[in-house]
Amino acid sequence: MCGIVGYIGHRDASSVVLEGLKKLEYRGYDSAGLALYDGEILKVTKTKGKVSALENKLQNSGNTDGSIGIGHTRWATHGVPNDENSHPHYSNSGELVIIHNGIIENYDSIRKELTKRGYQFKSDTDTEVLVNLIEEIQNKTNLKLGESVQLALKEVVGAYAIAVFDVKKPNEIVVAKLGSPLAIGIGTNEYFIGSDASPFLEYTNKAIYLEDGQVASIRLNKSIKIWEIDNNRPIPVLVQELKMSLEATEKGGYEHFMLKEIYEQPNAIKDTYRGRLLINEKLIKMAGVEENLERFTNADRIIIVACGTSWHAGLVAEYIIEDLTRIPVEVEYASEFRYRNPIITSKDVIIAISQSGETADTLAAIKLAKQNGAFVFGVCNVVGSTIARETNAGAYTHAGPEIGVASTKAFTTQITVLTLIALKLGLAKKTIDNNTFLRLISELNEIPEKLIKTLNCNNTALDIAKVYKNSTNCLFLGRGYNFPVALEGALKLKEISYIHAEGYPAAEMKHGPIALIDENMPIVVVAINKGHYEKTVSNIQEIKARKGKVIAIVTEGDITVKELADHVIEIPETLETLSPLLTTIPLQLFSYHTAVLLNKNVDQPRNLAKSVTVE
Ligand code: AGP
Repeated sequence: MCGIVGYIGHRDASSVVLEGLKKLEYRGYDSAGLALYDGEILKVTKTKGKVSALENKLQNSGNTDGSIGIGHTRWATHGVPNDENSHPHYSNSGELVIIHNGIIENYDSIRKELTKRGYQFKSDTDTEVLVNLIEEIQNKTNLKLGESVQLALKEVVGAYAIAVFDVKKPNEIVVAKLGSPLAIGIGTNEYFIGSDASPFLEYTNKAIYLEDGQVASIRLNKSIKIWEIDNNRPIPVLVQELKMSLEATEKGGYEHFMLKEIYEQPNAIKDTYRGRLLINEKLIKMAGVEENLERFTNADRIIIVACGTSWHAGLVAEYIIEDLTRIPVEVEYASEFRYRNPIITSKDVIIAISQSGETADTLAAIKLAKQNGAFVFGVCNVVGSTIARETNAGAYTHAGPEIGVASTKAFTTQITVLTLIALKLGLAKKTIDNNTFLRLISELNEIPEKLIKTLNCNNTALDIAKVYKNSTNCLFLGRGYNFPVALEGALKLKEISYIHAEGYPAAEMKHGPIALIDENMPIVVVAINKGHYEKTVSNIQEIKARKGKVIAIVTEGDITVKELADHVIEIPETLETLSPLLTTIPLQLFSYHTAVLLNKNVDQPRNLAKSVTVE
């Protein structure tokens, strides 16, 4: 996610803002910048790369004066990481500057309108469009900055946390929030701004958290004014006394980044389908697919290459894509694909899945595929990453930075993107009818809410982890769409708790693994009331006949499995096609709590790296 920082008061703004940006580095970013106002001149310094690079550039520029400043660490969503696309962005007049965390979905249409009115744009960002929209409204209405920002935000669709400064009114910073976090720190004759409190906790523990749909005017020697964007209603200013440590703040109050990222999944999925799943228009918009539609619909087959959790997402995609589009799909470990002299033709479409966009094996598989004339489509989480740049087209997951080494929100957002692709192709190929399409997109639209409900199983997952934390082995079983979920659950447990675990298709148990089962073996079974439910119930009976301990993930209201299993975690009913987005959650939480109870380093497990950039 981007990070925003601001300061208005009596201190040296450059050091407050730079140190504040450093506190936000944990959020992950690809470029940084700041704007300083010294009472006469407004100067923007920004650069691709780290805050340390910004610091050097600022020192060399000499533009360090000023007691008012705003700063930004960028996690690219529109426009690749480079100096020009970094924030802050000037308006055309050079009198306004803005920093922004979020995504403006309708920026393109606004940009076209402003271009017609003579505005010019230096960057590819949605943010530069927003600051010029504010300027256009100011010029037309002569309204104050706060009101101009408010009117501009009424025209945009998307998510934002913004800070705007106007040299014409230099004692004020205007902020606003919808969907991205924004905190205001209250000092003595000074105010701070941050994506969270970490940039200003060393100065003050008094903070105001803006709510969605609110805009605020922060003026020196005046009280803060907050009002609602939609209806002008003034909002009482509620100042909180923060108790959180700096470290806790970075994790949003969660004990580990992994737990924070598990809980971010409802929003991450929403951010991933935002602007793509147009529920009212009953359509899916994905430029990367639309511009290459025939390549997909005429493909002989789709080959998915990935590693680890991304490979598991690819396996889920195999079921979904084949089911909805009837295009043959093969899922390959990139590390095997790159060396086994595979058959690849120009009629193949390769989908490369990678959270980091830097995994060496996946990158090598892409290069091999391109050498053989195949079209390569990337599904990455890092804008401008190597894999994103190497592929012919792609679609980003908008999970935001995933700090925990164990992948969680990357998995569910990858499945979200791949589901959107399958739906779009199925409709285009007419292998699904309109009713099926509508049923699936409306259910997908419900998933974030159902995922929030699924997260209520957290305490149950903790209780079960307490029972089995000292197990030496664990089996994960699932059928159909939930076989890949079983594999993913096993990977989560082994990589953070170091307990050996294996995932299997439930029916495979009879072909060997059942020999492992005794009273010391916990077996996690995904047994939702979809697919071959009755057969999965039989598998559970076979396990119980051999004294195995069954932890079952079931659809809420299930009574059959409840009578058989030793432990049950209920999840909301959903379509089998979309069920991995929910069934994986209890497995993430079970693994997380097991590792915590075993005092493992959950966010940085031994021997593992977040991105395997070497063979
Ligand atoms: C999963 O929890 C691990 N972090 C690992 O398996 C990871 O999924 C794999 O290394 C692939 O990484 P990528 O998605 O960044 O390519």
